[in-house]
Amino acid sequence: PRLAVIVVAAGSGTRLKGGAPKAFVGLDERSILHHCLVGVFAAEPAQVVVVVPRGFEGEALTDARDAAGGRADLVTIVTGGETRQESVSAGLAALWANVETVLVHDAARALTPPAVFDRIVAAIDAGSVAVIPTVPVVDTIKSVDADGRVVAAVDRSELAAAQTPQGFRRDVLEAALRDADADHTDDAAAVASAGHPVATVEGDAVAFKITTAPDLDRARALLSERLS
Ligand code: C5P
Repeated sequence: PRLAVIVVAAGSGTRLKGGAPKAFVGLDERSILHHCLVGVFAAEPAQVVVVVPRGFEGEALTDARDAAGGRADLVTIVTGGETRQESVSAGLAALWANVETVLVHDAARALTPPAVFDRIVAAIDAGSVAVIPTVPVVDTIKSVDADGRVVAAVDRSELAAAQTPQGFRRDVLEAALRDADADHTDDAAAVASAGHPVATVEGDAVAFKITTAPDLDRARALLSERLS
């Protein structure tokens, strides 16, 4: 099936305090977005849609051309929305007609190993309509009320942390987001609430989402280890 990857990079990155929208913060001499796109192109997609904050379309195109290694003609840049879900919808609207499978990937998971993309694509090829990478939850999780009091224990063995890239049959994701009645923090939630089964494959600790300043330090350290 013709594969497209939508990279959502339109977040403001206020928790990171990196001085720019998160995807445009440098990891080394290259941005988070650049590093993310190198991993995306390794999956040999037929189209890559990059969703960016208004005003950053030109910078994103430069990063994408740089990461694409001669395949810059596969790149479409679009302007994002207020929420992640709106940004994904903007990305979907830019898909070429022949695309059948869509991966949605957070730019902030810049160091996601190619093997995670491979596992997602393999699950779709094997017939899943929706599949996400997950990792075990390491912390003990509590349900808390508005006053910060613990209201319930949550059984950790029943939990998994969802990562990206999340893979979908295009028609399934399009319909789920068109009909979504809530703002979901990932795409699998919209697809599940539309009644579709969501499969899981093994994620990877290195696919963590760069969110806070310590995450940025960790990503920079991993990258310099990789190069040395
Ligand atoms: O905010 P959060 O960390 O969950 O964002 C996950 C991903 O979604 C990031 O890569 C971010 O750039 C993207 N995003 C977006 N548009 C928004 C909000 C987040 O593309 N309005």
